[in-house]
Amino acid sequence: ALKKPADIFGEGRLAAKGWDTTADDVLAAIEKARDVPLPDGKPLTVSEPTGTTRAVTNPATGETIGTVLEADEATVARAFDDAATWDAPASERAAVLRKAADLYEANYGVLFALLAREAGKTIADAIGEVREAVDFLRYYAREGENTVRAPRGIIAAISPWNFPLAIFTGQISAALMAGNGVLCKPAEQTQMIAHKAVELLHEAGVPNSALQLLTGDGPTVGAALTADKRVSGAVFTGSIDTAKLIEKSIAENLAPGTPLIAETGGLNAMIVDSTALPEQAVRDIVASAFQSAGQRCSALRCLYIQEDTAEHLIAMIKGAMDELAVGDPWLFSTDVGPVIDAEARDGIAAYLKEKSGRIIHQLKAPEIGTFIAPTMLRVNGIDDLEREIFGPVLHVATYKARDLEKVVEKVNARGYGLTFGLHTRIDDRVQDVSESIHVGNIYVNRNQIGAVVGSQPFGGEGLSGTGPKAGGPDYLPRFLTPESGQSGG
Ligand code: NAD
Ligand code: ALA
Repeated sequence: ALKKPADIFGEGRLAAKGWDTTADDVLAAIEKARDVPLPDGKPLTVSEPTGTTRAVTNPATGETIGTVLEADEATVARAFDDAATWDAPASERAAVLRKAADLYEANYGVLFALLAREAGKTIADAIGEVREAVDFLRYYAREGENTVRAPRGIIAAISPWNFPLAIFTGQISAALMAGNGVLCKPAEQTQMIAHKAVELLHEAGVPNSALQLLTGDGPTVGAALTADKRVSGAVFTGSIDTAKLIEKSIAENLAPGTPLIAETGGLNAMIVDSTALPEQAVRDIVASAFQSAGQRCSALRCLYIQEDTAEHLIAMIKGAMDELAVGDPWLFSTDVGPVIDAEARDGIAAYLKEKSGRIIHQLKAPEIGTFIAPTMLRVNGIDDLEREIFGPVLHVATYKARDLEKVVEKVNARGYGLTFGLHTRIDDRVQDVSESIHVGNIYVNRNQIGAVVGSQPFGGEGLSGTGPKAGGPDYLPRFLTPESGQSGG
């Protein structure tokens, strides 16, 4: 299995993730959170919100776990009327974001419970997610505390369900730290988590007029947010199709040059040559393809194995897959939870049915909820992948040693550019492939997921994103006006 309780809660691992706490504390908090009442969701706007109610389902069980009030267009318009930039000194804004980081840490039990029950995250993923959100808050506080440049104004922040706390918090905290007002819209599937996060940010001291939460659906709230002339910039993470809609809306409705940061999907590949260490490669392949049920934009989609060692490695991958525990995310021993909802499950299941002749290994998955059994498919190459399959599906191809450059060319030719993995013990190959592959994040002899805020800025190129990379030094400045605010000299 990818993770066992000792791996998750070992003191060394917690310290490495920055927790100032012990494994016993974390276990106790999780135990306490087991039956914690989950907070419902609703817009957190200055004016009283109006809209319609949506039931929230636990993807692992199909049970209704709460409700969310989703905003109507009138609520969005009132939020714009009430929105204001955050006119406090940068040092004060930084102190508030650091306090929010402390509050996230103090509330990790309920955040874990929400991540597991609303988003289907395993405990291991939930720990990583809370940690990443906290890292974003502290990182942007540090990056922005000495800035003297002016904010852009009001920023529309639209986020996906697959990192419902980390990406949601990352977008907001950078925009706020730059002094902007933020109107944020989380994905429909994870609005209770967003509600809790914004409550904590308000409690830390972010003014209500500088941060308003608009729960609601994409075509209503998302579209209204990105078409209002009062928007000075937008930050989006999600699918390429939605990014294109937002880009069009900005071009048609907003001032010329209104900035859009869009982080989108990928068709991420990994090459494993015949010099790679098989045990290490297999561990990293399985983590890259199946951790988070394959629902990471960074996840491995197409594995290329040099043909000399391919059958041996495929047999080892099958063995490692057999060790994966698929099931209830709230059990410490679970490695792979459900996919996000019935629509996602049905889409991936239809794809697997269509490709059933290519399946070389498939696990079993629970029949309740929205599980997809981790699956390995044989393909000729990345050109056989029509689109990003956002779930636990690994495509495997083989290549001849002399064709390595052609493989890199084919991956580049697809036009995506998010993550890429390489397993080899040839130093010159690392150099050559790193120079010729066109992606935002390259990982050598390790897995290709889980970029660390501050030390591994994350973001793609080409179809995968506009940049700048999140968690890196260029991100926050995009939320500031381009001119220098320095005087004197
Ligand atoms: P999605 O595009 O369906 O939804 C993303 C957000 O856009 C949601 O909040 C949704 O409500 C909103 N939205 C939908 N229609 C809209 C509209 N017309 N106007 C404005 N907003 C609208 O994506 P998803 O299914 O939530 O996320 C999965 C995708 O996100 C995958 O493709 C994945 O690769 C990508 N992703 C990329 C990164 C990255 O950093 N590159 C990170 C995570 C996820
Ligand atoms: N930042 C996330 C990762 O690297 C998407 O997996």
